[in-house]
Amino acid sequence: FVIYAPYIKAINELKKTRNAVILGHNYMTPEIFHGVSDFVGDSLQLAQKATEVEADVIVQAGVHFMAETSKILSPEKIVLMPDMEAGCSLAESITADGIEEMRAKYPGAPVVSYVNTTAEVKAASDICCTSSNAAQIVAAMDSDTVIMTPDQYLAQNVANDVPQKNVVYWPGSCIVHEQYTAEDLNEFRKYNPETKIIAHPECPPSVVEASDFSGSTSGILKYVHDNKPKQAMLVTECSMASNIADELPEVKFLGPCNMCPYMKKITLEKILYALHTMEGQVEVDPVVSEKARKSVEAMIDLSR
Ligand code: 13P
Ligand code: SF4
Repeated sequence: FVIYAPYIKAINELKKTRNAVILGHNYMTPEIFHGVSDFVGDSLQLAQKATEVEADVIVQAGVHFMAETSKILSPEKIVLMPDMEAGCSLAESITADGIEEMRAKYPGAPVVSYVNTTAEVKAASDICCTSSNAAQIVAAMDSDTVIMTPDQYLAQNVANDVPQKNVVYWPGSCIVHEQYTAEDLNEFRKYNPETKIIAHPECPPSVVEASDFSGSTSGILKYVHDNKPKQAMLVTECSMASNIADELPEVKFLGPCNMCPYMKKITLEKILYALHTMEGQVEVDPVVSEKARKSVEAMIDLSR
């Protein structure tokens, strides 16, 4: 942390001058997660926080769709994205035309879109979901058939949890979580039978099935904090284990992890630059924003 200290100090001082808060996703590196974030959490928690914080400026330490969600919920605030190239393979996998294609294929079925989507896709959807409330949202839909976009694996995992619904889905996937296989996990378990294997629901269902627990990034944090396993393997983005390891040195983290190249675009240097120059302001077309806000707010209301 010593090498980061000057950046952390400068950012924390500039936050006061700008009346800014930093919303940090659980996949941020430890120096961002522990060093400069005012609030950390999963996608749902950060979206809820964006509506609550009293600040003129939100710096989104996460990926672009998260910053857009904050701007949609708080259009009066300046939302800064430290790197506009910090995208998401899921958000890039579908456009509003894709939503219309699904509606034409399944007439009358509601569209539940993952928050990992652009504002245009949210605007074209009926409601959003995150990994922490997806099953709850799908179960609440007033229709036997429910369209889920764009994550095929989250949709398949939800279909297993909500068998009363016919869940149909778009074939998108997360480049981080699609790489894990049940074979790898079972092989790992053979040699490490004591290790708790914990997977994010963006992993294929066979991977979730081979795990001891599956949950959103905050669900994973809570599981490790509550259970304090001697050894754990987090089947998700690498920074998760680093961030928890700083808080729970008694838990040993094993196994491979995968990096999200988009999340890793966010650095202390870029956060400092954004706060200093106020460059990287996220804008959403007001008409699109209004429609997208309805989808996000419908999700937040159902998740209370
Ligand atoms: P969470 O909502 O679980 O934080 O997931 C966001 C994400 O992008 C996971 O890859
Ligand atoms: Fe998108 Fe996957 Fe990266 Fe999450 S981990 S931001 S879903 S690419």
